[in-house]
Amino acid sequence: MADQNITWWAFDEVEAFMKDGFVAIGVPPEEAAVCADVLVSADKRGVDSHGVGRFKPIYLDRIWNGTLNTKTRFEVVRETPTTAVIDGHNGMGHYIAKRAMQMAIEKADKYGLGMTVCRNSTHYGAAFYYSMMAVERGMIGMTTTNARPSIAPTWGVEPMLGTNPMTWGMPTDEAFPYMPDYATSVTQRGKIELYGRLDKELPDGWVIGQDGKYRHDTKQVLVDLTKDKAALTPLGGLGENLGGYKGYGNTLTVEILSSCLSQANFMKALMGMSPEGKPTSIELGHSFLAVKIENFVELDAFKKQIGEILRQMRASRKAPGAERIYTPGEKEYETWLFRKDKGVPFNEPLKNAFREVKQRLGMPHELPF
Ligand SMILES: NC(=O)c1ccc[n+]([C@@H]2O[C@H](COP(=O)([O-])OP(=O)(O)OC[C@H]3O[C@@H](n4cnc5c(N)ncnc54)[C@H](O)[C@@H]3O)[C@@H](O)[C@H]2O)c1
Repeated sequence: MADQNITWWAFDEVEAFMKDGFVAIGVPPEEAAVCADVLVSADKRGVDSHGVGRFKPIYLDRIWNGTLNTKTRFEVVRETPTTAVIDGHNGMGHYIAKRAMQMAIEKADKYGLGMTVCRNSTHYGAAFYYSMMAVERGMIGMTTTNARPSIAPTWGVEPMLGTNPMTWGMPTDEAFPYMPDYATSVTQRGKIELYGRLDKELPDGWVIGQDGKYRHDTKQVLVDLTKDKAALTPLGGLGENLGGYKGYGNTLTVEILSSCLSQANFMKALMGMSPEGKPTSIELGHSFLAVKIENFVELDAFKKQIGEILRQMRASRKAPGAERIYTPGEKEYETWLFRKDKGVPFNEPLKNAFREVKQRLGMPHELPF
């Protein structure tokens, strides 16, 4: 992003601005604080596709167009000692998800395992946040969410499934947890939006058109993805040669886990668009799992063994020309080390979005750009 006229803005100040912005638009302070924290936490780890860049275009814009409720009703509709089903009533997804994971963790703390699922929730941002909550309590955490359909099944061109992450988090004896956190498509919408903000063309392999050929026209792709005219490829890519059907199967599994237990909406019901082209709410489903490691083995023994697995992986023989082998969660930790004293990098499009929010919500805050 070196050529993007970057201004770095301290994390706590960006978080305070967003919290106050959410409050100004009508989100209660406790919920606004969670939403701002989840967003800025993504930028702390370099997950810029799901961080503060989405403050306006996803959350505020949906509130402004009347498709997202500012006040969240968190209703537990069914509960046992180890499970719960929650109805989020189209409230703020970050807040619903955080509370649902908290419930799963409390249940796991008492009984060894806890699983909660949500329906009528909304976009919850970067999935690692919720798995990390379990890691911080010495547990294994896992979360899934469905999302607006954008992935075509193997041999199809119609967007049917969301980018549906399934994110595990596990504590280790290293400075950072094991955290594979990604979409089940080759790429995901947030990254295409980021390319749009940077005015960059899409590379081969990410998006296909109705003719089954790759598309590169980022801005039009973002429009066409909402109109069924372009689709993302599942992990593994097109066809069967590279195992695209395995990514397709993973995405389907996430769709099922996120929606069938909670009876949440699924696939085309998440288009966010009426047949007349008017924006509608996107009320989706999530799942959260917490596993208390100490019910199986001493926590230190688990951490040591997973650490050993990861170290052996990184120390294994490298391909010619390759400098490093990474393990999941490592790059994000290094980004945190790099960014922690700098903050969030704001490029021009992001600055303009924040200027617009400040002006539209009449916020008295000083922006550093
Ligand atoms: N809420 C939603 O609807 C939704 C949907 C899709 C994705 N997301 C979120 O978007 C974010 C980004 O997703 P993405 O698919 O673009 O992720 P990505 O492709 O950037 O992959 C990131 C993950 O891959 C690991 N990784 C990267 N390079 C690696 C390497 N060489 N070796 C080993 N591991 C490596 C990272 O540590 C990290 O765990 C995630 O936080 C995800 O939860 C959210």
